[in-house]
Amino acid sequence: MEGRLVTFRDFMKFAVEQYYCSPFEKIGSAGDFFTAPELDRVFGYTLADFIKPLISRYREPVILELGAGTGKMAYDILNYFYTNDPAFAERVKYIIYEKSNYMTDIQMRTLAPFKNVSWVTYFPEVEGIVISNEFFDALPIHVVKGNKELYVSEDGKEVWMDIKDERIKGFLERMGYDNLKGYRIEIPLDAIEFLQKIGDALKSGYNLIIDYGYTSDEIKNFPEGTVVGYSRHRVIQEKLYSMAGEIDITAHVNFSAIIEYGKDFSLEPCFLKSLRDFLMDSSLFIKNLLTLNASQSPEEIERFTRLKTMLVSMGDRFKVLLQRKRP
Ligand SMILES: C[S@@+](CC[C@H](N)C(=O)[O-])C[C@H]1O[C@@H](n2cnc3c(N)ncnc32)[C@H](O)[C@@H]1O
Repeated sequence: MEGRLVTFRDFMKFAVEQYYCSPFEKIGSAGDFFTAPELDRVFGYTLADFIKPLISRYREPVILELGAGTGKMAYDILNYFYTNDPAFAERVKYIIYEKSNYMTDIQMRTLAPFKNVSWVTYFPEVEGIVISNEFFDALPIHVVKGNKELYVSEDGKEVWMDIKDERIKGFLERMGYDNLKGYRIEIPLDAIEFLQKIGDALKSGYNLIIDYGYTSDEIKNFPEGTVVGYSRHRVIQEKLYSMAGEIDITAHVNFSAIIEYGKDFSLEPCFLKSLRDFLMDSSLFIKNLLTLNASQSPEEIERFTRLKTMLVSMGDRFKVLLQRKRP
């Protein structure tokens, strides 16, 4: 008895929403995973230093952050602006798009010192930049193999049925994946919908995505797909279905698809690079790395180790994509 069947996409959407809306700690040492902003403030400072010249020409530059977690990255970006250029900081409107009320409450507490932060449930008009760190990997994906799509039964069994959604067939053809017959291919239709929202929202400016992911050239490294769960800093592959809602379920971001489909919404790619290269291209990051390396204080030695984690274990797995929409 299979019970009711839902697409893997619907299963993942429900599981991710339930997870982020439940009131328990998710990010950090007492939670399920670390993110780069939680490792060290230099991550947010590096982003702030990178973003400022991109948006300073706007009278009231908007930073729209998608899925802001604890609000740590927003805090570090605004703190950097207020410390180094208060007049510019005063002009910035920092807007957060966040689905989970539980995470929003945490963000409001973190960001209480700043007056220019607001929260939205829709995409406002943006002259400035849309930014996200580990947001796109939380978006649900359809999974296909050959001409079948993955469904999940009520009792957590995987069932393969004919692909019905024409958008999936269109995606496979457009991305040139229709010859990858034995592979579990992930179809990011929700991410594409978000790209459209970003393209529509941006009057002029940029979209910066930081996340773990792959390009079409690397897809062959993932014959079984990239879906995993995280719980207490461990990767869960076996009990994904029975632990739904209690664990963080993610899929790597297909950056080639984001670049290709972004063009439909006037988002032109500026660069795609590894997080390591992005950080090492920043003189601010290097300066902080060298200062911490030279320090004898236990706290700064610890911070140096965390920056190395950002560079080494996250540095290659994570990519940074910048897209631009011209007025
Ligand atoms: C992995 S956390 C990343 C948090 C933060 N950006 C960081 O780097 O620490 C994902 C964030 O996106 C939010 N989120 C997930 N799916 C979302 C959706 N569909 N719409 C809005 N926010 C979402 C979660 O509530 C959470 O705040």
